[in-house]
Amino acid sequence: MDKNRVYVFDTTLRDGEQVPGCQLTTVEKIEVAKELEALGVDVIEAGFPISSPGDFQSVVEISKAVSEPVICALTRANTMDIDAAVDALRFAKRKRIHTGIGSSDMHIKYKFNSTREDILKRAVDAVKYARKFVDDIEFYAEDAGRADDEYLARMIEAVIAAGATVVNIPDTNGYCLPDQYGAKIKYLMDHVSNIDKAIISVHCHNDLGLATANTIAGVMNGARQVECTINGIGERAGNTSLEEVAMILKTHHALGYHTGINSKQIYGISNLVSTMMRMPVQPNKAIVGRNAFAHSSGIHQDGVLKHRENYEILNPEDVGLATNSIILTARSGRHALKHHLQRLDYKLDKINLDEVYQRFLIMADQKKEISDADLQQLMGDGDEKNYDDRAIKVILLQVVCGDPLRPMATVKLKINGTEKEASAAGNGPVNATINAIHEIIKDDIDLDEFSIQAMHGGSEDVSKVNMRVKHNGQSYYGFGYSTDIVNASVNAYVDALNKIY
Ligand code: KIV
Ligand code: ZN
Repeated sequence: MDKNRVYVFDTTLRDGEQVPGCQLTTVEKIEVAKELEALGVDVIEAGFPISSPGDFQSVVEISKAVSEPVICALTRANTMDIDAAVDALRFAKRKRIHTGIGSSDMHIKYKFNSTREDILKRAVDAVKYARKFVDDIEFYAEDAGRADDEYLARMIEAVIAAGATVVNIPDTNGYCLPDQYGAKIKYLMDHVSNIDKAIISVHCHNDLGLATANTIAGVMNGARQVECTINGIGERAGNTSLEEVAMILKTHHALGYHTGINSKQIYGISNLVSTMMRMPVQPNKAIVGRNAFAHSSGIHQDGVLKHRENYEILNPEDVGLATNSIILTARSGRHALKHHLQRLDYKLDKINLDEVYQRFLIMADQKKEISDADLQQLMGDGDEKNYDDRAIKVILLQVVCGDPLRPMATVKLKINGTEKEASAAGNGPVNATINAIHEIIKDDIDLDEFSIQAMHGGSEDVSKVNMRVKHNGQSYYGFGYSTDIVNASVNAYVDALNKIY
């Protein structure tokens, strides 16, 4: 085992998603999970299955959609929660159960109305029970930041003996100072006799603005897993931000630690999460804020132009940020498009550039400028997929709507080479279009989740549509993008149909 490898555990979809107003649909969570996979995280905490049917379903679907990272599900220390997690993880190729209980006297007394000995027994029982179903068990000692070190060490030793493979030492309330938190991790390294049988994980909250500093202190004292979220989102002041930890370890490479993060994906996923969760990134946020690489004073601009490193310790391109003045518009050629795709780390040998360029021109015709987020949407719709292989394609879409008109749609589809056309009415243009598709497909398909989102907000914007449809009791997901919301909806619906047939 590489002793300097730091594993990245992303909890954007669990701790991050607990923030009021940040809830995502299952389809959106799948999209984030796939981007997390491309980013190179080691573990995705996909949800808390017992907490709601939606969370349960998200863990199921993310387990099917993602293959590289370990998929983790959260539980409390009881058999019902663990049973639900085992069930939700049944499709995961690599799975982990994350179970745990409070470890501070505060939690033991005022949350559980219990005793240290009883809580220790419940912790051990939960780990032993979970271990019957899954080999990879992470135990969290909630509020470890405020727990007594001697008791914490006993608890950690007992859960490792019971089968825990990772032990999470959360600073649940963001209470610790970096040297205190680092000392706590060192204490466990020195006093837990079987610590070599498990990885110590650090999970820090940002109530005092110290989450990243505490995480790094944890790593420097022996932790080898960091728990973070994209943009640092999370309860109250948030969790440790993934991009900060990844770039600190990369920038300070002399420390010798390394992660599997592909830093060029950072800016893209930061945008995606912020847009989807409707949670703007503060302009001066380290690494991903709008001003993180903006130099406004004359002295700094002059210094940067003379030698970038005078005022930049990070290369903006390393986090996937454009730094040049090549702006993409409808007048840009293939060369400019290729330059930006390469910069965003798309594999050009797997892309049909001519085909992407045609779709780019259609998008660029309808927008003043094409941003990185637009390009990512464009590629999400086409990257590494060969559209010629699709069984069902839209050949024509015509919609009439307005007030007092009755919405009508005509759709022509090419299904395995044969063209079929139908028209239908509906209570709106999207409903009319889907009714027309049903006239052609004539199968029992129900649309049961549908969301439309503008990527940036302007009326000339690209909209993104997520859909979930049901067929023979199975759910299928579809995504579509267009500056026309009806078009985007048809693209999403046909994307789902292609997954069915
Ligand atoms: O902050 C915390 O203690 C948690 C645990 C559930 C891991 O999120
Ligand atoms: Zn937390």
